[in-house]
Amino acid sequence: MATRSALINVMVRAAEKAARGLVRDFGEVEQLQVSRKGPSDFVSAADHRAEKTLRDELQKARPDFGFLMEESGGSSGRDKTTRWIVDPLDGTTNFLHGLPHFAISIGLEKSGEIVAGVVYEPVHDELFWAEKGQGAYLNHTRLRVSERRNMADALIATGIPFKGRGDAAGFLDEAEAIMTEVAGIRRFGAASLDLAYVAAGRYDGYWERGLAPWDCAAGVLLVTEAGGFVSEIGGGRNPVFGGTILAANAHLHLPLAKTLRGVERKRAPVVPVPQPPTIKPPTS
Ligand code: IPD
Ligand code: CA
Ligand code: CA
Repeated sequence: MATRSALINVMVRAAEKAARGLVRDFGEVEQLQVSRKGPSDFVSAADHRAEKTLRDELQKARPDFGFLMEESGGSSGRDKTTRWIVDPLDGTTNFLHGLPHFAISIGLEKSGEIVAGVVYEPVHDELFWAEKGQGAYLNHTRLRVSERRNMADALIATGIPFKGRGDAAGFLDEAEAIMTEVAGIRRFGAASLDLAYVAAGRYDGYWERGLAPWDCAAGVLLVTEAGGFVSEIGGGRNPVFGGTILAANAHLHLPLAKTLRGVERKRAPVVPVPQPPTIKPPTS
């Protein structure tokens, strides 16, 4: 049985309180699907309510810490080294459509490093949590990434660009390259849970471009504490703030990186090599 620290308990209490509101609101969404106004205003209000609950609870427990929150942005606290990085509702599109796959994500950043993370999926009561150096857990069970070594057996998650954002053609090239090598690709629609599922060994890997820190701060720690590797797709070591992410077990991180970078290289614009000016021979 895992013993949670006081810090993790603060995060869990805040997540559970905000989740109670979200679950109540999720129950209403189905009713709203048929109304003329549609559920999107309602969902956005639910999202803001959850964020306020999280802010109030976290602030009460740790009044000196700053915040980086999806809806209300950044604010620094008295302790300039430490801030909460929060997504109050990750998987908004699922929530809006009545799909029970969404989560609350809370990461704690200290001096530029993520030191604690909680991803709570309330519909199935799955609480993923990790503290730096202490391992990753699902409820009371220690997590390990999967042991799969062969790309041909691997199940890989991703995120697909939407609403005209991101590079749709680039994504299709990447998906084509990956899908020909692996057992399957999934797009479930909540980045924090994609990472939590890598930590739990349900997925063998996950890649996505265009993420924000609140989507992945907690999830990155879950994966590394479960023994996995996380980097930017191009190899950079700052996936939380770098905007692209590749997470996998230790066996599959490199082959996945090679495949994705191969696509990147093929798509890189051909830069013309500057030619020396032609010097005409002197005319006599
Ligand atoms: C989104 C989800 C989705 C990912 C998007 C995120 P939101 O977060 O995590 O899976 O593909 O990039 O923006 O908007 O539901 O909080
Ligand atoms: Ca999100
Ligand atoms: Ca969100």
